[in-house]
Amino acid sequence: MKVVKSVKEMHLISGQLRLDGKKIGFVPTMGYLHEGHLSLVRKSKENSDITVVSIFVNPTQFAPTEDLDKYPRDFERDEMLLNQENVDFLFYPDKDEIYPEGFSTFVEVGEITKVLEGESRPNHFKGVTTIVSILFNIVKPHYSVFGQKDAQQASVIRKMTSDLHFDIEIEIAPIVREKDGLAMSSRNVYLNQKEREDALVLSKSLYLAEDLIKKGERDFNVIKEKMIGVISQAETAYLDYIQAVESDSFSKVNLFEKGKSYFVLIACRIGRTRLIDNLLIQIN
Ligand code: PAF
Repeated sequence: MKVVKSVKEMHLISGQLRLDGKKIGFVPTMGYLHEGHLSLVRKSKENSDITVVSIFVNPTQFAPTEDLDKYPRDFERDEMLLNQENVDFLFYPDKDEIYPEGFSTFVEVGEITKVLEGESRPNHFKGVTTIVSILFNIVKPHYSVFGQKDAQQASVIRKMTSDLHFDIEIEIAPIVREKDGLAMSSRNVYLNQKEREDALVLSKSLYLAEDLIKKGERDFNVIKEKMIGVISQAETAYLDYIQAVESDSFSKVNLFEKGKSYFVLIACRIGRTRLIDNLLIQIN
């Protein structure tokens, strides 16, 4: 695996790979990699000739009150893990090259970024779509993989890719969970032992929702009440939102209809750590 730091070098490499007729797969990350990230890497390896992974902790997607400074980093471990996966290129640019002084261009998707994560983290998606556009332009992928764990982010990227006519296929890979159900996240490292136990209420409440839906419940308000019951069992949990949305448009729903698919999404603070999780359901 070659580590590429400079934007110019990455441009040249990607340009040459395209000239050589190679299909470039791309997995953008903020590092501190776990099995969830590695599952995206494996998907990219399966579906392209060359896989590029980027590690860049993107400052524009963090609010001043958020965890940019303490966001976990371990470049050496990440490099070793990506080497083991036989990744071809690791793009690891400096902040000052991505956002030089005077940088003033942002990419903003409408509607879908205004709800849920967009309500709780007002400028977050603008930062995400801006950095992903920048990285797409540098890496020039044919194919890019995002995780369903950040379901709204994945839909926002799909919308941006389609609206801006990026000629890139976007794939969404399933959530990878710890054995006990906790969705993998770099932020799980912030949890102490008690919080780690309490964090299970996110997946437990989603499993309960899934079970109720399987048994025929179609009223989301009934399901939500029961999910809140699960969350309230954890002393350190503070609920931000529980919401059902149509899977494509992300418009909020109260009743599940036959033939449609939905996300049930949850955001919850466990102690000082904000976690998100979701469930994709198809109503037959
Ligand atoms: O999901 C992430 O890790 C980030 O939001 C992304 C897509 C790498 C953009 O910084």
